[in-house]
Amino acid sequence: MQSYSLFAPAKINLHLEIIGDRVDGYHELVMIMQSVNLGDIIHLRANGTDKTRLYCENPQVPLDSTNLAYKAVRLMQEKFPSHAQNFGGVDITIEKNIPVAAGLAGGSTNAAAVLVGINLMWSLGLTQPDLRELGALLGSDVPFCISGGTAIATGRGEEIEPLPDLADIWVILAKYNNLAVSTPWAYQTYRKKYNHLYVHARTEVKSRTHEVHSGKLVKAIANHSSKAIGELLYNDLEKVVLPEYPPVSALIDAFKEENVLGAMMSGSGPTVFAICNTEQEGKSIVQRVEKKMNNKNLQLWLAQMCPHGIIVT
Ligand code: C5P
Repeated sequence: MQSYSLFAPAKINLHLEIIGDRVDGYHELVMIMQSVNLGDIIHLRANGTDKTRLYCENPQVPLDSTNLAYKAVRLMQEKFPSHAQNFGGVDITIEKNIPVAAGLAGGSTNAAAVLVGINLMWSLGLTQPDLRELGALLGSDVPFCISGGTAIATGRGEEIEPLPDLADIWVILAKYNNLAVSTPWAYQTYRKKYNHLYVHARTEVKSRTHEVHSGKLVKAIANHSSKAIGELLYNDLEKVVLPEYPPVSALIDAFKEENVLGAMMSGSGPTVFAICNTEQEGKSIVQRVEKKMNNKNLQLWLAQMCPHGIIVT
């Protein structure tokens, strides 16, 4: 087929722990990642030219070679030059629903969709592990976005081990559209403040990873207990982002006052998510938080955790 449309879900982090430094300049992490059904639609079409062209109506999305989706095409062209020659360039249209620069892996999930879509379009026969390996060359979150669902991510975030699915749990996502947090800034600030706590020995990194693996949150996930999951949310980056961004901190407090099951910043922020019991409860919490914060820049979405990454629509 010459064209594909793919659904590319956003992700939230239920657990984000910074363990130490890596020789490649990144951080050694242990994360528990979760896909949510707030997602972008990516349309791919072989355009018969030698050009990659990007289309998106959202003015915040760059349409040039800085876009991770564009880089994903270039990577596939480099890795599979004869297919690239046969099929020519690719038109990518992004229907953007995931907020940009939000800590929800919006750019990474678009790139993941391009890898999955080109694999199909060019009949390359790559497996999910093959695609995840390619994804890691583009960004730390891309491998998770390919397979999605619920997973432990270690290393830079690119080593993925699936956990039992957490489909259907309701989540409210909230973001001030006039706020953006730079991910490199968040990690660098964390390093400056907390590097005295970093673990260095390989065995210590392994044992910390193992603790998360056999820990309470993974048990809560296996039991599909949204209450326990809500109580066990954890994100080291809150320690540096919240003091610098008081509105994000106030938003978390506003959700907690509504007795949600748990509320936390996702990734490096500034998106906040809150776990709740039912759709009905979610809708009324959205209304009350909107009213309480009374800020035209605040956007809220009601979504559900979902058991998949990129899927063909
Ligand atoms: O891999 P990605 O390009 O998404 O990472 C964005 C930035 O986040 C990196 O440049 C780095 O500053 C920081 N980061 C990190 N350690 C990780 C992942 C990301 O320090 N494991």
